[in-house]
Amino acid sequence: MKTIVIYNSQTGFTKQYAQWIAQELQCDSISLQRINEIALSEFDTIIFGSWCHAGRIKKLNRVFDELKKDANKNYIVFAVGASPMNSPDVEKTMEQNIPKNSIVKGFYFQGGLNYEKMNLSSRAMMKLFSSMLKKKKDATESEKKMAEMVSRSYDISDKRFIVPLVRYVHSLK
Ligand SMILES: Cc1cc2nc3c(=O)[nH]c(=O)nc-3n(C[C@H](O)[C@H](O)[C@H](O)COP(=O)(O)O)c2cc1C
Repeated sequence: MKTIVIYNSQTGFTKQYAQWIAQELQCDSISLQRINEIALSEFDTIIFGSWCHAGRIKKLNRVFDELKKDANKNYIVFAVGASPMNSPDVEKTMEQNIPKNSIVKGFYFQGGLNYEKMNLSSRAMMKLFSSMLKKKKDATESEKKMAEMVSRSYDISDKRFIVPLVRYVHSLK
């Protein structure tokens, strides 16, 4: 079975997960910007990874919908976000982006925040989000924790999180 990992990453976390997955599955990983360099028809399993942006998986609709046209292929999406794996937002994001009846199998991996590598608009949005959370009255404990966390860069990514995805791909063989 031939597999490819395609990733869309702004600050590197999704790229890192794509590389870890490709290493484990012994296949190639390629940035979405270079997609024209490969022939998608050659692959049986297409894995697309991208980062979470305001509850959406970036480029999932616009790009991945175009990619998943062949019903005989296996399609897997992994989303990378700043929210920890056990955060209630994660389940909501995954449900909203990948409907239950979809042919796509979805996974979420916690990444982190890297203010140094963000573009200007991303940095401004995150700073705004952080100050809004900090000012929020009646904030829940998890919101208070989140407000503190997102005020600076952090890395909570871990290669071990890819295990369920890797197992899933092996089960397809
Ligand atoms: C504008 C903006 C919005 C974001 N929205 C979310 C979000 O809704 N949920 C989440 O978990 N992370 C969110 N993040 C965090 C990124 O998904 C996180 O930093 C991710 O690790 C970035 O991946 P990358 O390094 O591959 O670009 C957001 C980041 C930015 C800059």
